[in-house]
Parts: sequence; structure tokens; C-alpha cells
Amino acid sequence: MSETRSTFGSKLGMVAAAAGSAVGLGNIWRFPSETADGGGAIFIIIYIACILFFGIPLMVAEFIVGRSSRANAAGAFHKLSPGTQWKWVGRLGVLTGFVILGFYMVVCGWTVDYFIQSITGTLHTVSDFSANFNQLLANNTRQIVLMVFFVLLTAFFIFAGVQKGIERSAKIMMPVLFLLLIVMVIRATTLDGAAAGLNFLFKPDLQEVKSTVFLDAMGQAFFSLSLGMGCMMTYASYFRDDTHLTKIAVQVSVLDSMVALLAGMVIFPSAFALAANPDTIVSNLVEGGPGLLFITIPELFNHMQGSIIWSAIFFLLLSVAALTSTISLMEVVTVYIHEEYRMSRREALLLVVIGVLVLGTVSAVSLPFFNLLDMASAKFMLPIGGLFISLFVGWYLDKKITQAQLTNNGKISMGVTFLKGYSFILKFLAPIAILLIFLYGLIG
Ligand code: PFF
Repeated sequence: MSETRSTFGSKLGMVAAAAGSAVGLGNIWRFPSETADGGGAIFIIIYIACILFFGIPLMVAEFIVGRSSRANAAGAFHKLSPGTQWKWVGRLGVLTGFVILGFYMVVCGWTVDYFIQSITGTLHTVSDFSANFNQLLANNTRQIVLMVFFVLLTAFFIFAGVQKGIERSAKIMMPVLFLLLIVMVIRATTLDGAAAGLNFLFKPDLQEVKSTVFLDAMGQAFFSLSLGMGCMMTYASYFRDDTHLTKIAVQVSVLDSMVALLAGMVIFPSAFALAANPDTIVSNLVEGGPGLLFITIPELFNHMQGSIIWSAIFFLLLSVAALTSTISLMEVVTVYIHEEYRMSRREALLLVVIGVLVLGTVSAVSLPFFNLLDMASAKFMLPIGGLFISLFVGWYLDKKITQAQLTNNGKISMGVTFLKGYSFILKFLAPIAILLIFLYGLIG
């Protein structure tokens, strides 16, 4: 099986696929509401620091495990530490991917619904956006049909394979996404009154700092970079031997942060420019979640000229971003079943699709179940996974493997200080930081 294992074809394809996984609903829906909650610019500064000090090192750690083992998330630990219990870290990751798919797919369905509402013009005629969203939530059949559509759409790309499906789609979709975002940013920042939104986003106000801002920013960084569940590990198992792991991690993180910032530059200026009551802007944004994307945003668009086009572009963009993330999540689970249970990729995919459809259907009809999956994965499973991945590479994995992966067997020169610093982060800094997020999740 491993002799015929796929790899990505080009460097651009690798970056696009990994960035496609990272860029998703987390950037466009979660980031703006977390930023509003965290007091604007100050949150962003801490967020970027978290990406630099913990996010990038952990992504490189996942890359090291993935490429050195060339196996699925669970098989990787099995190969690198045979006979130990580390394989449970990989299994937990696969389970986390499955759980995330179970609720993420429902949100993807809502995104498609709003895209349809935009292009058919019905969103344009809505007067009560809150009622409009609640109507969708109450319509189980519609939610399930759209969720099924998105699951099958994702499965189509997995079915097509690593190069033809994942890589090719990401290479097309990521630039499209960027282009759409730029167009939206230009529109939003040229609205009358947009400056107040940009000020909130980029001018730190120390009075607004909350005690939990550091941990919130770190949680957002991990979710957004797709870390802690073996997703980047699985993609790295398709990387080529001459791929510069650190470079790719930096590029993906920069792209991911740029998309988050650009999304903020769409949402904050339009919120400040178009809101009827400026006093409630921040609290509306903080509410975030479904409210922000499916109530506040369409309402804002309705105040713009050409609202049909703007909301259609926005929800198309959201669907595209979400699709490249669901592809990565589904690939993690599919390749695990394919390799560990010796099933063909097709059979494995069929099994995953059935499982996700069941989970998705239950979370579409039950909001408490939806919230349970969301909370269990983000607050508990991802931090535990991230903690053990960094401990694995920091303490357990042979230093020779780490160095060989970082330097591509000595072909890339890397200073001793860099290697020592990296080891320090993985051994101490990252585990302690992640443990804090986890404890915060328990208390908060
Ligand atoms: N990073 C994705 C987002 O920001 O929407 C979500 C995600 C994808 C999380 C893949 C975890 C993962 F493995």
C-alpha cells in the first residue's frame, strides 16, 4: 500500500492544500467575533504572537511526524513508536476530525443556503434577519438536504484523489478566495464611515484588555491553523522529500492570518459604516457565531447598493473556504480507514460519508448535540491532541529524525541556536501554553 502512496505534485499545490485546510469558517466567522470580544487590535497583536511562537512550531512538528512516517495520523505514531501507546494520540486526532465534520458540515449547509438565498434575491427582500435565520434552523429537511449536498461535494474531491482532487481544487479555489476577499475589502473600506471600523481593528486600546484574551487568542490560532488533530500531519505525509517544512509552515500561517485580517477588514468597516445603532455594533459582533454571519452580515449587505451581488460573493467565498477545510478533515479520516483497516480508498470513503451523514443529521436536528460536538472538539480534543503532538516531537522522537526532516537530510543549513530554540518551544513552551488553554476550557 505504502509503495503507491500519493504525493502532491508541486510546491504551489502543497501550500495551497495546507492553506486551504487552514483557511475556513474559523477565519471568516470565528476570527472577527473573537477579535471584537478581545477588544480589537490588542487581540490581533496577541493572536499574531501566538501564531509565531506556538502555531508555526506545532505545525512544523506535525509536518515532521507526517513526512517522516508517510502514514495516516494514527499509523504515523504507530510507525515512529511501535509498541507504545502513542498511537492513541493519532486515533484521538482522527476521532476529532470526524467530530468536527459532524457540525462543520451543518454550518457549510447554511452557507450554501444563504448563497442560494442571495442569488435568487430572497435575501434581498428579508426584513427580519433574525427570524429568517431561525426559519432555516427550524427547517430540518432543508438543513439536512444542504448538509448532504456539502458532504457529497467534499467526498467528490476526496474520491478524485490527492493530486487530481485535493491539490487541483485548492490551486484554483485559494486564489479565487483571495480575489473575492480583496474585492470585498475594497467595497467595505470605501464605505462612508468605514474608518471607525478600521480604527477598532488596528488601534490598540489597552483599556479593553480582558484577562482571558491571551488564551482566547491562542485557542483561535490553533483552530484556525488546523492544528492538534493530525490534519497537517496527514497532508505532510503527501509532501515531497525536498519540501522545506519550515518555509511551508510560515507561508501557510501567513496566508491564514492574512485571510483572517482581510475578513476583519470586510466585517468591521461595514459593521461600523452601516449599523443603524453604533452602540450595539461591538456587542453584535461579540455575539458572533451564527448571529454574525447569518444575521448581522446579510443585514449589513442589504444596506449596500447591489446587495444581491455582495452577499452572493460573500457566501460563495465562505463556501469555498469551508470546502477546502472539509476536504482536509475528510481526508484525515478516509486515509486512516484506508490504511489501517486495509480497505480500498473508495470503501473507506463510503464508510466515512455514511458516518458523517449520520452525525451531521443528528446535529442538524438537535442544537444541543451540535453545540456538544463543537465544544468537545474545540475546547477539549484539539488542545489535548496539540499537547501530545508537541510532547511527542519534543521529548520522544529521535532528534536525528527531527533534524533530518528540518534540514532535508542536511541539504538545508540551519543554525544550532534555531534548532535549540525550536526544541525548547516543543519541550516546554508549547505544552505549558496548550495546557493552559485546556484548563481554561475546563474552567471557562
Ligand atoms: N482551520 C479550519 C478553519 O479555520 O475553519 C477548521 C479546521 C480544519 C480545524 C481542519 C481543524 C482541522 F483539522
